[in-house]
Amino acid sequence: MGVLEDKAHARLFYKYLSRVYDTINPFIWNDEMRNEALEWFGIDASDRVLDVGCGTGFATEGLLGYTDDVWGLDQSAHQLEKAYAKFGKRGRVKFHRGDAERLPFADDSFDAYWSSGSIEYWPDPVAALREARRVTKPGGPVLIVGPDYPNSTVFQRLADAIMLFYDEAEADRMFAEAGFETFEHRIQQRASGTPRAITTIARVPDDNNAVDPV
Ligand SMILES: C[S@@+](CC[C@H](N)C(=O)[O-])C[C@H]1O[C@@H](n2cnc3c(N)ncnc32)[C@H](O)[C@@H]1O
Repeated sequence: MGVLEDKAHARLFYKYLSRVYDTINPFIWNDEMRNEALEWFGIDASDRVLDVGCGTGFATEGLLGYTDDVWGLDQSAHQLEKAYAKFGKRGRVKFHRGDAERLPFADDSFDAYWSSGSIEYWPDPVAALREARRVTKPGGPVLIVGPDYPNSTVFQRLADAIMLFYDEAEADRMFAEAGFETFEHRIQQRASGTPRAITTIARVPDDNNAVDPV
């Protein structure tokens, strides 16, 4: 397990990274990649959407282009402060401080669930994906963006020491274990030679409550 797949370590990391996050982020995960993923997400104006690991609100802002009913959750108070500065603490977005693995929402609370760039910090991604399935209505989309596993052995060792990087086979395993039956993965990249994202678009089973208890 990588050093940042520990909630306390990740919070400490974001205490400092939050200061420069919006400056660095576009080199890895930029507007074009986010907007492409938003099109795949396929939500509409009446949808209530949860953005987990919303951070400073980069994807939140994109989601607001589709619906006014956006909820953001993050475990880092420092990242959330940056988001409040953009959207207000009790403004257009309903922000919550919390953990992706134990969401403070009732079953079927949302029409759609989005999480970009956060899964790599979750110590138990399958538990968090089960939570995504629990809080999203049957048939609703769950979109997760994470870091694709590097090809070279040197980078693989480095990646494994830091956080979760995963390939399509591992994504298949995680989503299936979390009770998803329908999902596909797409690779996104800002430019050749830059880090690749693996973006999964899954759908909550129509018979969600019968799949297994979450
Ligand atoms: C790389 S940022 C992504 C921010 C934003 N989603 C975006 O697209 O730019 C990752 C965020 O995940 C949050 N995070 C990490 N582990 C978390 C957890 N267990 N529960 C909730 N948020 C978490 C971090 O605090 C951080 O703000």
